[in-house]
Amino acid sequence: MRRILVTSALPYANGPLHIGHVLEAVQTDIWVRFQRLAGHECLYVCADDTHGTPIMLKAQADGVTAEELIAGVGAEHRATYRDFLIHHDTFHSTHSAENRELTERIFRVLDGAGYIARRTIHQAYDAKAEMFLPDRYVKGTCPVCGTKDQYGDSCENCGATYTPADLIDPVSVVSGTRPIERESEHLFFTLAKFEAMLREWTRSGAIDGSVANKLDEWFKTGLRDWDISRDAPYFGFEIPGHPGKFFYVWLDAPVGYMAASLKLARDRGLDWDAWWGLGSTAELYHFIGKDILYFHTLFWPAVLTGAGFRRPTAVHAHGFLTVNGQKMSKSRGTFINGRHYLERLPPEPLRYYFAAKLAPGIDDIDMSLEDFVSRFNSDVVGKLVNIASRCAGFIVRGGGRLAAALPDPALYAEFAAARTRIAACYDGRDFGAAIREIAALADRANQYIDGHKPWNLAKDPARAADVLAVCTEGINLFRALMLYLAPVLPAMAENAARFLGRPFGHWDDAATPLLGTALEPYVPLATRLDPKLVATLFAPEGVASAAPVAPPEPAAKAPPPPAPAAATVAPAAEISIEEFGRLDLRVARIAAAELVEGADKLLKLTVDLGGETRTVFAGIRSAYAPEQLLGRHVVVVANLKARKMRFGLSEGMVLAASDGAGGLFLVAPDAGAAPGARVK
Ligand code: 2FM
Ligand code: ZN
Repeated sequence: MRRILVTSALPYANGPLHIGHVLEAVQTDIWVRFQRLAGHECLYVCADDTHGTPIMLKAQADGVTAEELIAGVGAEHRATYRDFLIHHDTFHSTHSAENRELTERIFRVLDGAGYIARRTIHQAYDAKAEMFLPDRYVKGTCPVCGTKDQYGDSCENCGATYTPADLIDPVSVVSGTRPIERESEHLFFTLAKFEAMLREWTRSGAIDGSVANKLDEWFKTGLRDWDISRDAPYFGFEIPGHPGKFFYVWLDAPVGYMAASLKLARDRGLDWDAWWGLGSTAELYHFIGKDILYFHTLFWPAVLTGAGFRRPTAVHAHGFLTVNGQKMSKSRGTFINGRHYLERLPPEPLRYYFAAKLAPGIDDIDMSLEDFVSRFNSDVVGKLVNIASRCAGFIVRGGGRLAAALPDPALYAEFAAARTRIAACYDGRDFGAAIREIAALADRANQYIDGHKPWNLAKDPARAADVLAVCTEGINLFRALMLYLAPVLPAMAENAARFLGRPFGHWDDAATPLLGTALEPYVPLATRLDPKLVATLFAPEGVASAAPVAPPEPAAKAPPPPAPAAATVAPAAEISIEEFGRLDLRVARIAAAELVEGADKLLKLTVDLGGETRTVFAGIRSAYAPEQLLGRHVVVVANLKARKMRFGLSEGMVLAASDGAGGLFLVAPDAGAAPGARVK
C-alpha cells in the first residue's frame, strides 16, 4: 500500500471559484479517488489562500474586516467544491494557527541557517493611502511603446517588462495619486544557494519533461534572491522580530499545504512527520496550474530543504482552461463561475468532460460547450447508462436475480483485463486515455446487446433463460465500466452500486463478475444535458439565475399552477434566524410514488421520515417518473400544516429547486443522511 498526500493549489479567498479552479480540483479528486479504489492510503488537503494586498483591499472596499471577508469566501468555496463532489480530507485556511506556527518555524530555521538576507529596496509608495504599492497597483504609460493604462510590471501591448518607476505618468490604483519612491528594508530568501539541489531534484522525475525544459531556462537566467517580506499595512502574519513587516503571501501559501495536513493529523490522530519529515516514505504530490510553476518547482522545494523538510515527490502542472477556444474572461462573456454552473447543471457531466480532456501535460484544455453536451449525452447517457437500462427491466421480469453463469465469459474477461491499462492511465494522469478506453468498451457492450437482442428473445417464453443470461452479461459489463468511471462519476457510481446491490470497494472487484445475486430496483442514472440550459452558462451573472424554491405548490384546487415562466426568481422577504428555525426540515426517503388521476402535474409520494410515514402531493410530475423516485432521499418540510386536497391530505412538502424555465430538481442530502435527520 502506498501512502500518499495530495494537494491542489490554494484558491485566493477574494472571490468565488470559477470553472478553471474546478478543473484542477476535479483532476486532483479523480486521481485521489482512483488511488483509494486501488487500495492505497491517499489523503487530499487544500485550503484558502487568504493573505496579501488584494484581499486586504477587497475587504476595505466591501466595508468588512479581512477576517470577515475570508470567512465568507471560505464557506462559499467549501460549498462549491462539495457540490462538484470534490472530497477534501481537510479544507483549511492559511489564516490559521497551524499555518502561523509552521511559517514562523520555517522562517526561524531558514534565518538561523543563513538563508535570509536583509537588503534595502526602493518601492512605489502611495502617500495618501500610506502603503507600499505592489507593481500591479501602479498604472501608467508604457515607457517603450507609449501605450496608456499599463500595469507597473509589464506592457500588454508590446510585452516589455519594467518596474513601476519606469512608467510615464504613474498613478496609484489605490488612491489615484502619483506614487513616490520610498525605501524599506526587506528580507530575502537566498534561492541561489539551492541551485545544485534544484537542478538535481528537477531531473529526479519530480517534474514532467516539458516543464523541466522551462526550468532550464530559469537556471540559465540565474536564480535570484526572493523577497519574502512586505510592509504594513498588509493582511498576513507579522514576521517575528521584525515589527511592521509581514510574510509575503507566497511564502505562507505553500506552507498552507503543511498546515492543512497538520490540521488533518491533529483531527484524526495521524503522524504529520511521516508526511513531511526528512526521510518520509510517503509520496507527496502538488497539483497546480502552469502559471505558478516557479513558486512550486524552485522556491517551494528550496524552502522545504532549507527548513529541514522533505521535498515533493512530484509537482503536476496542468494547462489553462479556455472556453469555446477563448480565454475565460468576464468582459468577453466567456467566464463561468462554479456556482453559476451548479445553479443550472449537475456536477458530473462537467467532471466527465474535464476527465475526457485531461492529459498529463501542460497543454491548454478547451471546453467547447457543444462538445460538452454531445460527449456526455453520447458517452454516458447514450452508451453507458443505456447498457444498464436496456438490461435491468428484463432481469426484473425474470425474477430480479442475475443468472448463475455468464454466457460469454471471454468477453467479460476482456473487460476485466482492461482494468490494468485503465489503472495505468489514471495513475499517469492520462484521464483522457482512460475515458477513450472505457468508451470503446461501452461500444462493445452495446454491440453485444444489439447482437443478442434480448427484446426479441423475450417474445418467446421458452427463451427466458437466454434473456436472463444475455442481460446478466450486459449488467456485468456495465458494472465493470461503472467501476472504472467511479473516480470520475462518484455519485452515479454510488447509485449504480445500490442498484447492483454491492458497493464498489476495490478496483479489482472488476475481476469477478456478479452472479446469482439480486438487483435492487433500477433508478435512471443520468439524464441528457439540455443544450438550451447549457447555453445559459454564458448568461451574464444574475440573469436566468436560479434561486432555490419549493416546487409549485399543489393548490387546493387541482390542477396546480404551472412552474413560473419567468427566468428570474424574485428574492423573498428577509426572515430572522428564529423564523427560519421554525421550519422543521427533515431528510425523508421516498417509499412509494404514484401518479394522481386527474392531476397531470402531481405525484403522490409516501415518504418515510425515519419511522413516521407521511403522504405528500408534490408538483414534480413534469420532471420525475414515479419509478425514478423510489428509495431516493429528499428534504421535506415536516411541520407544514396538512392541507386537504381534492385527492387526499398532503402532510408536508418536498423541496425542489426550479430553474425558472420549467426544470425541477429535487433537493437531496449528501449520501449518508438518514431519514428523519433534521436539516438546518
Ligand atoms: O495562484 C493562486 O491562485 C495561488 N492562490 C495559489 C497558491 S498555491 C499554494 F502555494 F498555496
Ligand atoms: Zn509597451
